[in-house]
Amino acid sequence: MSHIHRYQGQTITVEFDLELCIHSGDCTRDLPAVFDIQQRGRWVQADAAEADRVAEVCARCPTGALRCIHKDSGEFMAEVPERNTVKVMENGPLYVHGRISLKGKALPAYRAALCRCGSSRNMPWCDGAHTAAGFSDQGAVKPFNPDAEITPGILDIRPLRNGSLYLVGPQYLCDAEGNIARVSKKCALCRCGASSSKPYCDSSHFETGFKSD
Ligand code: SF4
Ligand code: FES
Repeated sequence: MSHIHRYQGQTITVEFDLELCIHSGDCTRDLPAVFDIQQRGRWVQADAAEADRVAEVCARCPTGALRCIHKDSGEFMAEVPERNTVKVMENGPLYVHGRISLKGKALPAYRAALCRCGSSRNMPWCDGAHTAAGFSDQGAVKPFNPDAEITPGILDIRPLRNGSLYLVGPQYLCDAEGNIARVSKKCALCRCGASSSKPYCDSSHFETGFKSD
């Protein structure tokens, strides 16, 4: 069975990828009339608010699980981000926002949540397992060159086999408070949860025997 569900409104279609949702609750808090989990089987009421407002909330879904598409044009209703940001969340995943691809293949949304605790069963995506795993990291990032200039472009996510998350392309790495700490074109971030230099990989995955394709 497909994990992508589509909810039709008069002018928009809301797509929901069940496998990507980590139940952060942003959508249900922002627009409870539209995103109503009490309505079993049809939890998205696409016409219960202005289409632009629904699109705005979909575009803010931190995992890219929600996408809003204009029915006439077929266009994805989200502003193209000017820069690619990777935010290190406290005790949680990496939130990516930008023009992103996975191993060269464009993603259907401008957002994604990447596992950095090593426990997700849906690698490289976060599935919320960090809570049960007791993953703990404040999300601090030591400032390196936060004011560097960089040419915009696509950020490609390359999970290395049994190793780090290799991010290739212009990127702004931000701490949990949202402060830009590092501007670069390449970065290897920990996704096994064991690094002593989080958010960066320090090769601890060799010692822990981390396994992921
Ligand atoms: S905002 Fe996205 S990740 Fe959060 S509950 Fe809604 S669909 Fe799930
Ligand atoms: S992936 Fe965690 S130390 Fe390399």
